[in-house]
Amino acid sequence: SKGCKLVGCGSAVPSLQISNADLSKIVDTSDEWISVRTGIRNRRIVSGKDSLTALAIEAARKALQMALVDPEDLDLVLMCTSTPEDLFGSAPQIQKELGCKKNPLAYDITAACSGFVLGLVSAACHIRGGGFKNVLVIGADALSRYVDWTDRGSCILFGDAAGAVVVQACDIEEDGLYAFDLHSDGEGQRHLNAIMKENEKDQALGTNGSLLGLLPKGSSYSCIQMNGKEVFRFAVRVVPQSIELALEKAGLAGSSIDWLLLHQANQRIIDAVATRLDFPSERVLSNLANYGNTSAASIPLALDEAVRSGKVKAGHTIATAGFGAGLTWGSAIVRW
Ligand code: ACO
Repeated sequence: SKGCKLVGCGSAVPSLQISNADLSKIVDTSDEWISVRTGIRNRRIVSGKDSLTALAIEAARKALQMALVDPEDLDLVLMCTSTPEDLFGSAPQIQKELGCKKNPLAYDITAACSGFVLGLVSAACHIRGGGFKNVLVIGADALSRYVDWTDRGSCILFGDAAGAVVVQACDIEEDGLYAFDLHSDGEGQRHLNAIMKENEKDQALGTNGSLLGLLPKGSSYSCIQMNGKEVFRFAVRVVPQSIELALEKAGLAGSSIDWLLLHQANQRIIDAVATRLDFPSERVLSNLANYGNTSAASIPLALDEAVRSGKVKAGHTIATAGFGAGLTWGSAIVRW
């Protein structure tokens, strides 16, 4: 059987930075409330001509450069996003822009904040079972486009970003993706969603009873609806369990893991999970003060910062976990 390992990472964020003080001008909130309850101080937001696809491409190029992998040698591009700029998927567009000349497979994965972990697992499956060699996994989201900017309970949480890693086939002795644990529970959709809605009927286009009146009028998505308390409880309950299961599958003790890298949703969730797993705070990665919850991008964005700042070094083991809308959650034990 084949092994696979992480060989590069990269990230990109939009330039517009919005602070808690900025938000307090549009909703009834304060820097103190937001930072005490969430740990978030700033977030980056796409605006004007910003493109999420362009951020994904920038993150991907940096990851390929670090990995010393030529775009022409990629045989799979996975774009993990719940906010694609093309409903049909944006991975093929990214594949084209990167200059992957052999037309490698490229497709999107929709799993909100768990997207990146699912992308890692998919990369490993394609390498182990499908003979793929170089797989680009991108996590990118612009949830700000679906935020209700009048809802102070949710609009303070989210930011936009892209992150990427390159996963490469290797000998089984060098295998660096040790174990996974993945779950979902559609029952919890009611706690966190952004549901499709049909556009208002245009009277000029047909009235009830006529054929045009029966046909769909085009659709768009509602803003994010969230029950913060329920999502908080869910995360603190399932994430430690999932990481423990993945550690067990990997045959590793928590004490042998160098870094805990959770989806960056809320510092209180990160702290609660670390406490339940007996992880000292010095071994917990966090950058959500600067970026907020960037959904599928948060794990590769935090990984990239930690690698480039020299915190995460070659050979370190990382327990990572994504969790969020779906509901979906999953964890992975990997080596950098
Ligand atoms: N500023 C000031 N007050 C606020 C704000 C705000 N931004 N938001 C809510 N409040 C008020 C509420 O109105 C409420 O007031 P009341 O007591 O007078 O009714 C009070 O603060 C407490 O509100 P709660 O919602 O109970 O606050 P809580 O402590 O649960 O914190 C939070 C809310 C930060 C959203 C928290 O529940 C949380 O982080 N949950 C997890 C959310 C999350 O991570 N979601 C993303 C998941 S990942 C994905 O897939 C997208």
